[in-house]
Amino acid sequence: MTKRILIQLDSDSQPSSFDSVVAIDSGVDHLLRYGQVQVSAVVPLVHGAMFTRGGDDLRNTAIFVGGSNVDVAEELLTACRDAFFGPVRVSMMLDANGCNTTAAAAVVAAGRHVPLGDTKAVVLGGTGPVGRRVAQLLATDGAKVVLTSRSHERASQACHEIVEKSGQASIQPLAVEDQETLESSLSDAGIVIACGAAGAQLVDQQTIQKMSQLKVAIDLNAVPPAGIGGINVTDKAKPLGAGVAYGAIGVGGLKMKTHKAAIQSLFESNDRVLNAEEIYAIAKAIG
Ligand SMILES: NC(=O)c1ccc[n+]([C@@H]2O[C@H](COP(=O)([O-])OP(=O)(O)OC[C@H]3O[C@@H](n4cnc5c(N)ncnc54)[C@H](OP(=O)(O)O)[C@@H]3O)[C@@H](O)[C@H]2O)c1
Repeated sequence: MTKRILIQLDSDSQPSSFDSVVAIDSGVDHLLRYGQVQVSAVVPLVHGAMFTRGGDDLRNTAIFVGGSNVDVAEELLTACRDAFFGPVRVSMMLDANGCNTTAAAAVVAAGRHVPLGDTKAVVLGGTGPVGRRVAQLLATDGAKVVLTSRSHERASQACHEIVEKSGQASIQPLAVEDQETLESSLSDAGIVIACGAAGAQLVDQQTIQKMSQLKVAIDLNAVPPAGIGGINVTDKAKPLGAGVAYGAIGVGGLKMKTHKAAIQSLFESNDRVLNAEEIYAIAKAIG
């Protein structure tokens, strides 16, 4: 049987050991790890993957794009796509810094407790790579999304970029400059997902507990202090105020299952491109 080969492209000096372990645990036979990958190096790496195995065997080679810099990873993914010739291609997945699997798992977890359609969802600290994807995926399923930042300009820019990229229309930017603005935005929200930087608290425990409409609060920050006061990293559907809470490890089980299922699905055909929405579909199927 033809061996499954995964080519791991990473812009960091050392390719992520996390991504390597998950690849092996997902059944990859051989993992080829490349670090410090720049766009200029992509064509020969991709051609090596394309021209070595023909026909149906092409599906046994795939590319994983990772690294801590999500913007560079997106450029690498585009460069890979541009290097293909028509049907002579291999499947690819982007999960730089865990952005897609984390966002997908968080949105699926939220959807367990409230129908996303027409529910107001506040994405706190939403201008980073995880928050942008969370906002995009919530909007994909019809939530009324508010994306917050400390800066109106950054919030607006993030919303503009998400809408341009994905065609999602209902994402509103909000600058949270004071407690009153924060409380007002949360007061009629059914979902809040905190996507701020590691160790940044975005809302305190007292505030979150008085939000009577809130059905689910998810904090993706695993570094103390919590992004949402009162949520522990291991919380998984734990009662909080009027709803339930998840911490970063609480959504981690689904994230890991999603990551592995996504890697496995790369080898089902030679033409998959797994980015935010495709990985979200995989997470939804897992539940
Ligand atoms: N569980 C997992 O497996 C997993 C995987 C990946 C990421 N994560 C976590 O998910 C979260 C989001 O990841 P990310 O990479 O998207 O985050 P990020 O880019 O580091 O930060 C997201 C946003 O947080 C805001 N921010 C930064 N410092 C802040 C501060 N001191 N106070 C308030 N806001 C601040 C910034 O927005 P503005 O400047 O626009 O306000 C920034 O764009 C992080 O906590 C990360 O550790 C978890």
